[in-house]
Amino acid sequence: MDHSATTPVDPLVVDAMLPYFSEMFGNSSSLHSFGMEAAEALARAREQVAEAIGASPEEIIFTSGGTESDNLAIRGVIPHDAGKKHIITSVIEHPAVLNTCAFLESMGHDITYVPVDADGIIDLQELKGSIRDDTVLISVMHANNEVGTIQPIEEIAKIAKENDIYFHTDAVQTVGKVPVNVDDLGVDMLSISSHKIHGPKGAGALYVRKGTVIEPIVFGGNHERGLRSGTENIPGIVGLGKAMSLASELLGTDAKHMQEMRDSLISRVFDALPDVRLNGHPTQRLPNNVNLSFKYVEGESMLMMLDMKGIAVSTGSACSSKSMNASHVLTSLKLEDDYIHGSLRISLGKENTMEDVDYVVESLKEIVLKLREMSPLSNS
Ligand SMILES: Cc1ncc(COP(=O)(O)O)c(C=O)c1O
Repeated sequence: MDHSATTPVDPLVVDAMLPYFSEMFGNSSSLHSFGMEAAEALARAREQVAEAIGASPEEIIFTSGGTESDNLAIRGVIPHDAGKKHIITSVIEHPAVLNTCAFLESMGHDITYVPVDADGIIDLQELKGSIRDDTVLISVMHANNEVGTIQPIEEIAKIAKENDIYFHTDAVQTVGKVPVNVDDLGVDMLSISSHKIHGPKGAGALYVRKGTVIEPIVFGGNHERGLRSGTENIPGIVGLGKAMSLASELLGTDAKHMQEMRDSLISRVFDALPDVRLNGHPTQRLPNNVNLSFKYVEGESMLMMLDMKGIAVSTGSACSSKSMNASHVLTSLKLEDDYIHGSLRISLGKENTMEDVDYVVESLKEIVLKLREMSPLSNS
């Protein structure tokens, strides 16, 4: 129930990867047949990734994951000899984007963080109003990893295009859950992570539209068209390619299955318990995301008690991911503190079943009632 954090590797993906650890371990830059075998695998994976998002293979740069893809997109568009430049992003981006922007700010560049409404949708008027002559990039995530809100990417792309500004989207959470086609979305750059889509950890890709001028952030032997040097992680990339193919092939069936479980889970929790709210947009949300807040209880307590029942979830309350900070996403939605403290993210996966949902609803009901019984707030 924590698939937005990571997913199990699909057995078909494992099968595809295994030969590249041992029999076919070549370096794709080598000229002999071992090298050629690796180069062929790399080319095949590039085609698989490109095909899944409607891109050309030359537009795919393999990276170590979503974080590196975001870094390359954002840091890459500011030329090293540039003067002060301006980037627009949103307040609810993943830290991979926010901390990259914070670094650029510390280097003297300007960043505008556009606010979102109570459902997590970006304010398009503010976004338009913040465009300047020296704006080089707009970076807005396709869907939020905590509350699942899906942004109006096509509209943002139109604004970016009209103003001749590059547009990057972090699609780490949307691939395999909603259609992701770079031309339909109108993006110039798009980040992908393998481990969120039943592929291995440590592999990802950045789509870079032909004609987009970016510079590398990692220098070396000029792999990946000079944009990402370093011997390629062939098994990981093969796994990413296979995972992307499976994700696009099964998108319709998997998304429908996840959405049915999501909707059933939400309505049954609402039927079972009072003082609950759904965070994020009610309909413009990922098919696998359920983000609920329970008044009078702490997210961590619910998380621990669910864990004891074998259910893994996450929380945006104070100790989120051991960081001791309340979620910047929930704070940006201007949720009351009570609701921030009692938040839980349940993120479903294709291998979950309705029986799993039954078990989660029953467990959650029992745990929340028990915690509320002990809470001085709920009795007052
Ligand atoms: C929206 C989003 N962007 C980027 C990342 C980072 O991806 P990776 O773990 O592959 O570096 C994540 C992972 O949690 C994410 O959810």
